Amino acid sequence: MVETVVLPGREALSEDRLDPAIDLPGEIERLRRDRKAVILAHYYQDGEIQDLADFVGDSLDLSRKAAATDAEVIVFCGVRFMGEVAKIVSPGKTVLIPDAEAGCSLEESCRPEAFRRFREEHPDHLAVSYINCSAEVKALSDVIVTSSNAEAILAQLPTDRPVLFAPDRHLGGYLAKKTGRAMTLWPGSCIIHEQFSERELVKLRTRHPRALVAAHPECPEGILRHADHVGSTRAILDYVLESPAKEFIIATEPHIIHQMEKAAPDKTFIAAVGMDGSCDCARCPFMAKNTLEKIYLCLVNNAPRIELPEDLRRAALKPLQRMLDMSVSVNVPANAS
Ligand code: 13P
Repeated sequence: MVETVVLPGREALSEDRLDPAIDLPGEIERLRRDRKAVILAHYYQDGEIQDLADFVGDSLDLSRKAAATDAEVIVFCGVRFMGEVAKIVSPGKTVLIPDAEAGCSLEESCRPEAFRRFREEHPDHLAVSYINCSAEVKALSDVIVTSSNAEAILAQLPTDRPVLFAPDRHLGGYLAKKTGRAMTLWPGSCIIHEQFSERELVKLRTRHPRALVAAHPECPEGILRHADHVGSTRAILDYVLESPAKEFIIATEPHIIHQMEKAAPDKTFIAAVGMDGSCDCARCPFMAKNTLEKIYLCLVNNAPRIELPEDLRRAALKPLQRMLDMSVSVNVPANAS
């Protein structure tokens, strides 16, 4: 794998040397202004990070935002592949990530060498890859999709070409069913969405008979079959805000409930749970690596910083740009300009 993160140097300020009395939000604000930085955050980030960000969104909205920003520095509060996407679409910007260890189980499940062999074994197939993969896997793909544009993009691909879908088998299975397309799936999954228990979901529904279920398509089929709505994080947020219902069970990483409670304080949001009956296992340990301290430190240290070899960046840009071009019909949220 190509290393895409430049770590802080030896002289860099470290967390253990931080003044415990520091006003972190105030200092981050000062650095954001001084460095002409924009802070982008995924809905799976802790509430305090979402509140501090200039823009909070799903993977597609964040990619669009990273491509369109005129800031000089992008601080990407999400996981590493999202920072890579920002660098691929905005090579002239400095892209900082608070924690270099913020990975993704889907990305990990799909090593570039193995993916290359997968492609070679299916030479007549189009390779459609979920954005949750490395820059190298992107570079080996024909087009990238997110959970919000995958259906719209599949509908634009020639129907006589079979599709390879990587790396999320649950999203791929959901799309194959929805579109009726034959798809060969890479056997990856998200450790978070994989944990939800169908039995516990049925129990929750019995206890909350009026609640509607909104689920992310990374969930296994056993969860999706109970869903009143399946969509990306932003689509789930839009759904609960637009629905006249008052109670919802949310089957995705529970930090998105922060935005729901802010926008609809009169509604009740219940996090779907795992086998143990708690939603703790649904908290993404990778997303949780980012903290206010680390956002401050990455701005001070100018690292961890995403840097990609130019040939890899260009190769990964092709299928990503195709995605952006093929998603124009997928709506842009009002606050994404
Ligand atoms: P969306 O942001 O497209 O909903 O996907 C969630 C996700 O997989 C984050 O890693």
